[in-house]
Amino acid sequence: MTDSPGAPGFLTATRTFYDAIAEDYAATFRDSYAGRPLDRALLRAYAELVGPGRPVADLGCGPGEVTALLAALGLDVYGLDLSPAMVEIARREHPGLRFEQGSMLELPLPDGALAGVVSWYSSIHTPADRLPELLREYRRVLAPGGHLLLAFQAGDRPRRHEQPWGHPVTLDFLRRDPAHMAALLGDAGFALVSRTVREPDESLGEAVAQAFLFARAR
Ligand SMILES: C[S@@+](CC[C@H](N)C(=O)[O-])C[C@H]1O[C@@H](n2cnc3c(N)ncnc32)[C@H](O)[C@@H]1O
Repeated sequence: MTDSPGAPGFLTATRTFYDAIAEDYAATFRDSYAGRPLDRALLRAYAELVGPGRPVADLGCGPGEVTALLAALGLDVYGLDLSPAMVEIARREHPGLRFEQGSMLELPLPDGALAGVVSWYSSIHTPADRLPELLREYRRVLAPGGHLLLAFQAGDRPRRHEQPWGHPVTLDFLRRDPAHMAALLGDAGFALVSRTVREPDESLGEAVAQAFLFARAR
């Protein structure tokens, strides 16, 4: 674990938050992709770009819904999450898949090990000053030409989630400017392939636009 002096405790705060809410989060989002055809289309396109049977990591996988979708699309995918409670739920709900606990800032993988990295709403708790390091870590574990899919809320102001489902925890969800993220990806050794921004879907409780960046390791 690597909490830095610049942002003391952000990994611990993130892990504590998701450990507390894991069961409620999983129950809320279980099977929610049936009602998200546009997001599923992007995941399908991603799976097609990477190619069947290629090794992919779903980093910050939570309860593993997206990991399972990607596996059903033919990828050789495993999930990793900081929160032990999330990993336990993912293993319970998707017993045929592999899930590991750990930090995506420090992946236990050799350079170039993967054909794909998916970071689906998981970079949103990494402070701005640690983002370049996070994107370099994604780049390090990808083989040249490997595919990154990055999903996040678009915007500039964070949204503070206080006492979700009545649990005594608080965490900021950081929104980001897609153009700025694209520039950071370039700096980290990626070539941008596609930038999709869709409008918020109120039926999903979204307050801001959602961004989906596809990039290839140079
Ligand atoms: C908003 S949830 C998204 C979960 C899942 N990708 C989904 O879409 O349902 C963010 C997840 O990222 C994980 N996460 C945040 N920072 C992480 C890190 N540094 N390493 C590994 N997982 C992290 C959290 O524990 C949490 O499960």
